[in-house]
Amino acid sequence: IPVQPFDYVVFGATGDLTKRKLIPALYHRFKDGQFDEQSRIIGVSRTKLTDAEFQKLARDSIETFVEKSYQDKKTIDRFIGAFSYVPNDVTDEAHWGDLSKNLREDPKVVRAFYLAIAPDLFGPTCEYILKKGYYRRDARVVIEKPLGHDLASSIEINDEVSKIFKEDQVYRIDHYLGKETVQNLLALRFANILFEPIWNSAHIDHVQITVAESVGAGTRGYYDESGALRDMVQNHIIQLLCLVAMEPPASDAANALRDEKLKVLRSLKPIDGADVGRVTVRGQYRGGSVDGTAVASYQDELPEDKKGSRTETFVAIKAEIENWRWSGVPFYIRTGKRLVSRASEIVIQFRNIPHSMFDHAQGAPKPNRLVIRIQPDEGVKLFLMIKDPGPGGMRLREVPLNLSFAETFAERTPEAYERLLLDVIRGQQTLFMRRDELEAAWEWVDPIRNGWDLANDAPQTYTAGTWGPTGAIALIERDGRTWHEDG
Ligand code: BG6
Repeated sequence: IPVQPFDYVVFGATGDLTKRKLIPALYHRFKDGQFDEQSRIIGVSRTKLTDAEFQKLARDSIETFVEKSYQDKKTIDRFIGAFSYVPNDVTDEAHWGDLSKNLREDPKVVRAFYLAIAPDLFGPTCEYILKKGYYRRDARVVIEKPLGHDLASSIEINDEVSKIFKEDQVYRIDHYLGKETVQNLLALRFANILFEPIWNSAHIDHVQITVAESVGAGTRGYYDESGALRDMVQNHIIQLLCLVAMEPPASDAANALRDEKLKVLRSLKPIDGADVGRVTVRGQYRGGSVDGTAVASYQDELPEDKKGSRTETFVAIKAEIENWRWSGVPFYIRTGKRLVSRASEIVIQFRNIPHSMFDHAQGAPKPNRLVIRIQPDEGVKLFLMIKDPGPGGMRLREVPLNLSFAETFAERTPEAYERLLLDVIRGQQTLFMRRDELEAAWEWVDPIRNGWDLANDAPQTYTAGTWGPTGAIALIERDGRTWHEDG
């Protein structure tokens, strides 16, 4: 369904996010007919470009980041016709750009501001929008992490933005919520009768959430300031955990869902003091080999002035949710760079059957397991026990019921940003983080970070191309459990 015409103003228009994600995502939506030339994309940044130069940048971005088979010259020509550009330095009033010719006053044209810029520019940018008269009560603003490096700085950033934009105008992106497989988690849980009755501590032994990446991080400028806890756990992994653990929302209205996520966040058992050392593990990769290619250590990748850094490139945590549904069910989470492969999944490990009638069978019944594969090889596997076919008596075997998205659906899977960018135009905030959620997530993460700082020790090292430090394996094996690793 096409969306209303819009004016999308992208601050930070020459940056990496715009080139890699935003322009390709908008192109795909344009190509699928979800909007047409009536909509405008207005690039804004300090660099002095003309409209034609910005259109060239857009064309290059499509040629570089959109799969060849989707590149179509005529569509690209039409698409970039929607692009214009205004040089602007928000920090210097004398060099403020004039958007009045680019923006339309027609109330039917949705106005959205995408701040693809560093958070310290959010305040000046909002001020610019207001003072230049571009603010409208129905305008929307899109912001994205890093939304702070702790609770205090996150409050500061949110305060800056909320001086001008009301909460119902603010779209905080966590791109994991835009992933098809993550949204599918909602369908799986709440569009089936099967799972919900057993989705609790009586039937679930534990949950695992793994977001593994094979890429390194030492050459990414921002990463060393951040580390895995802030970069991945505070946002993406906590969001996944909330979707697994929340109570069924009454509807898909934004606040219905976000209220439920918030309750989970507020029920997370705080990890502080001695618990930090007991239930969290930090790691940093040494050199090794990933997918058959030799790779350097994190330290070797770092620039000279950062050598010796103790930033974690891996983290594993045993989290607990203190509420009726989840009491006693650990959520083991882990994420890291330079692990064996790119593999993200959620594993729901059920309890074993209370009594086995198969005294004489070969092979004992194993507990069922639901594996939700987020990427790559998107899909869902439900491991069940069956009788091995054959006349030789009862032999029990574990087999997965396997729903592979690639085999089941012919359509291309849209990228997260495609969905999210247009949800902004639709005014649909369900897949965006509310301020209180974000702050509750920081409240949980900050004491962990502080605990590490106090301990003042170095992260454990792990060889690139493995599943992380041995401490992460010990973390789960101490409880008599193991990480799920057979896909
Ligand atoms: C980003 C992190 O938010 O997510 C990166 O900052 C990480 O460090 C990326 O690589 C992973 O996203 P995806 O979509 O590739 O899983």
